[in-house]
This record gives sequence, structure tokens and C-alpha cells, in this order.
Amino acid sequence: MAAKRGPIPRPGILDIAPYVPGTSALPGAGKVMKLSSNETPLGPSPRAVEAYLAEAAHLSRYPDGSARPLREALAKRYGLDAAHIVCGAGSDELLNLLAVAYLGPGDEAIYSEHGFLVYRIAIQARGATPVPAPERDLTADVDAILARVTDATRMVFIANPNNPTGTYLPFDAVKRLHAGLPEHVILVLDAAYAEYVRANDYEAGIELVATTPNTVMTRTFSKIYGLAALRLGWAYCPAPIADTLNRIRGPFNVTGPSIAAGVAALADQPHMQAAVEHNAVWRGRMAEALQHLGLCVTPSAANFLLVHFPQESGKSARAADKFLHERRIILRRVEEYGFPDALRMTIGTADENEAVLDALSAFMGVAA
Ligand SMILES: Cc1ncc(COP(=O)(O)O)c(C=O)c1O
Repeated sequence: MAAKRGPIPRPGILDIAPYVPGTSALPGAGKVMKLSSNETPLGPSPRAVEAYLAEAAHLSRYPDGSARPLREALAKRYGLDAAHIVCGAGSDELLNLLAVAYLGPGDEAIYSEHGFLVYRIAIQARGATPVPAPERDLTADVDAILARVTDATRMVFIANPNNPTGTYLPFDAVKRLHAGLPEHVILVLDAAYAEYVRANDYEAGIELVATTPNTVMTRTFSKIYGLAALRLGWAYCPAPIADTLNRIRGPFNVTGPSIAAGVAALADQPHMQAAVEHNAVWRGRMAEALQHLGLCVTPSAANFLLVHFPQESGKSARAADKFLHERRIILRRVEEYGFPDALRMTIGTADENEAVLDALSAFMGVAA
């Protein structure tokens, strides 16, 4: 009898290594300190929570299909044309929709060697070819990316700042990258951590989107705005690209409570500024203190630090991870990003940060 066979996915789909999110729980009872997913320690604005709860009275109604109130609030906040904004269920959805619209078998898409893993998955899911470009000093390298452009290239993904390295490309370098790309290649600037950057030479992408036909900027409410559970992101695009994404997205891809919470979160800029301030203070303090313990820390513009451990046995990243788990602290393993000897730590509350320092000073055998 012939073996029974079920449906088979398109070629290449089963070659995709699924995205594994940061660990969020540990065995045993008791609270954990979860510093593995770059969430904000300050939580969302209370005004966003209130707006979210108020939407409970309207759950039988479909939301505005184009997330108009949110697009208009974003347009006002950033001085943009609301028609060029597309909202999505997290920026992940928008990254995937870009791949659906512009990539197919035979096409190539470039991303930097230690770039955010969702790019590779989105590219492979379309049957296109992922092309990683080597980095320099754990930072995207414009020349290495441009050297990999071929007639088949359709898209370049850059996370700026990048996850998990925290490094960023100054605006001049982004402009040079764009200038070297043919006009039919889309430059996707994923600015999920833009709000955290405090560098005068940084620009998230608004200017390039406004002045070129082939740049898209994606943003999220998951990080600084503390709304990760709602899955809310947005893309600022040239009109033809916004039109394209609007043709293929789900007709109600953003929920009513998410739209309401997003509008309220944007209106509470003091809450956002407090998160920026907290992060800047603790990012500097933690980087210095961890280096004092003998650990190497990649300079970060975002709300997390990539911490490199010695390769010697007993002091490795794997051993540190286990040691931290025993103290109910969860950082992010980053092997699949090419960093078997590092852990990524999200900047947490003061107490969480101090707990990490205490634990790692005990681990390294150095007084903090
Ligand atoms: C660089 C980068 N882009 C995009 C995302 C996805 O964010 P969202 O929650 O909006 O899908 C993340 C989340 O970790 C990220 O690190």
C-alpha cells in the first residue's frame, strides 16, 4: 500500500528555522526578572491602558479598517502624510507584507550578518534567496552590502539600531547605502528602537522615505511604548508602496483596542520621555559596571546590551545563563544570531539591573 502523504508546503518552507522568542518563564514558583525581549521596564502609559479598557464596550464592532485614527495621530506627531502610513499587527507583519509584495523565487534580499532574524524568515518564506552581508565592528557595513547587490536583488533590510547588537548606522552611512542601490531595490529601515537613540548623527528614516521612491521605514509600539502584547506597528512608505501593502494586508489587521491604545500612548509624550531618560541612564551605568566585571559590552544605542563572556569553562555565556536562571533572571541567548559567547540584556528597572549586576559579579568572582 502506498504511504499516506499529507499536504506539502512550497519548496523551501521546511528549510526555515522557526523564530524562537526569548525565554519568558522558568520552572518552579516565584517571580522571574524577564530581561530577554527588549520590553520597557516602565510599562505602557496609563492613558494607553485606559483607552484600551474603554474599547471593551465596543468589541462587537469591526475596527476602522485602515487604522485611520492612529495613522492621523502618527502623521500629526511626526509631520507626515497619513496616506503614506500603513499600520500592522506589529512591525513583524509589515516586514512580512513587504516580502510578500516584492519578493519571489529567483529574487535576492540582503541583510547584515547579525541582523534581526525575522528578515531571513520573511525572505525564505517567499522562496527568495537570503544574502547576509558581513559586518564591521558588529555594525552593518555599507560597502559589504553594496558589494552583494546583483541584478536579482530586490530588497535590503537594515535594523537601525540593530537587534541584538545595539549598534547603529549614522544617517550619512544610510544615505550612502541608499545612493548605491538601484531604484528598483527597496531599502527597508527597521527603526524599532529609534526612540532610544541619543546620537546627533542618527535619523530613523523619515527624510529618506519622504525624498526617495524606494525607502520604507518600519516602527513599533512594542518597545518604548510598552504595548508589545497588542501587536502594533507602522510603516511610512512612498505612496505606491503604501498602496501595494494596503492591497494585501488583512482588511482589519489592527484591532480597535490597539488603535485606541496607540493613539493614547502617542499623546503621552512625558511617559515616553521618562522611558528614554531611564534607559539612557541605566544603559550607561550597566555598560560601565559590566565592563568593570571584566565583561566586554558592545556599545548600544538601544534598550539592551550585548554582553560577551569569556570562552573559558565555568565563565561562558551558557554557564552565566544557567547561573542567572538560578537567581530567576532571564537574559537572551543569542546563538542563532551568531553569538554563542554572548547574552543580550534588556535594560530593566533599577532593581532588576542591580540584581543582574549582583549576580554577574558573583559569577565572575569580582566585587561590583
Ligand atoms: C529590530 C526589530 N524589528 C522588529 C521587531 C518586531 O517588533 P514588533 O513587536 O513590532 O513586531 C523587533 C522585536 O524584537 C526588533 O528587534
